[in-house]
Amino acid sequence: MSSYHTPVMAETCLDLLKLAKGKTYVDATLGGGGHALAMYKKEPAIKLYAFDQDADALDYAAEVLEDHSPVLIHRNFRHLRTELAYHKVKSIDGILFDLGVSSYQLDCAERGFSLDKDAELDMRMDRESELSAKKVVNSYSEYHLTRIFKEYGEEDAAKRIARAILAARARQEIHSTGELAKIIESVAGKGSKESLKTKVRIFQAIRIEVNDELNALRDVLTDAINLLNPGGRIAVMSYHSLEDRIVKNVFKEVATACICPPAIILCVCKHIKQLKIINTKPICASEEELAANPRSRSAKLRVAEKVKEKK
Ligand SMILES: C[S@@+](CC[C@H](N)C(=O)[O-])C[C@H]1O[C@@H](n2cnc3c(N)ncnc32)[C@H](O)[C@@H]1O
Repeated sequence: MSSYHTPVMAETCLDLLKLAKGKTYVDATLGGGGHALAMYKKEPAIKLYAFDQDADALDYAAEVLEDHSPVLIHRNFRHLRTELAYHKVKSIDGILFDLGVSSYQLDCAERGFSLDKDAELDMRMDRESELSAKKVVNSYSEYHLTRIFKEYGEEDAAKRIARAILAARARQEIHSTGELAKIIESVAGKGSKESLKTKVRIFQAIRIEVNDELNALRDVLTDAINLLNPGGRIAVMSYHSLEDRIVKNVFKEVATACICPPAIILCVCKHIKQLKIINTKPICASEEELAANPRSRSAKLRVAEKVKEKK
């Protein structure tokens, strides 16, 4: 596959999406177009709307998909409903989310996502957006930094690392991923596995904040489910437990007919079951795929199907 990004669990995703001729699909996270191309290979006669908030991804994927005619949309997928309405799409037959960052974004030093490459702190998927990692690190209060390190990084040393950042930036502005890594090491130590894990967690937390990743996911899931035709499927591949928890909980709630408290004998909630969950346990990559693509290690795929609404 392309050096931009190797699509994860492509066959499984496509099988579970049940692609069919003439139907309309959304690839909410186009990236290098790997999943989108696989979709066209499996069923060329589909209508595909593909989102990415990173202009580099759209440029790259446009070439990968040049033999096909997807509608490419440079927008955060949280605007799914309004963008599809703009394109006069009222309903869809399937949607795929392959969350997080692409290998290209991680490997391209100047995008400032990576712990391994010293570069200007950036981490914006959408380079037109105002909030960068540099802004977060240099302007957020100790309280705010601690909160994001705790919430988005699940980091025990959140407060101490936030304090170290404030002390460092009082001396001079923090510019690079390397400088940030050193500040984290001043708290977590250097060279140990634990210290590496701490750095990964802090970088993850800042990336989630910069791109408002969890809120975008929360915003889009209900819209995506509402847009699905009966029988249509939603497939979401997440790469850390915070995302997976959101997907699991939204699917569970929408797949429940009654959400009245257990003490209520006769249902009063009027909640409508909209989804059937296809896999209660998340699907992971095979040993073979893990060996070929280590980045598939943390992937968890959840799929659900829209059911006819009845109460
Ligand atoms: C894991 S990559 C997708 C790779 C793709 N499936 C492929 O096969 O090449 C995730 C992509 O989704 C994009 N992305 C992540 N969150 C997004 C959001 N909220 N809105 C739009 N694009 C998003 C990223 O910019 C990145 O290019």
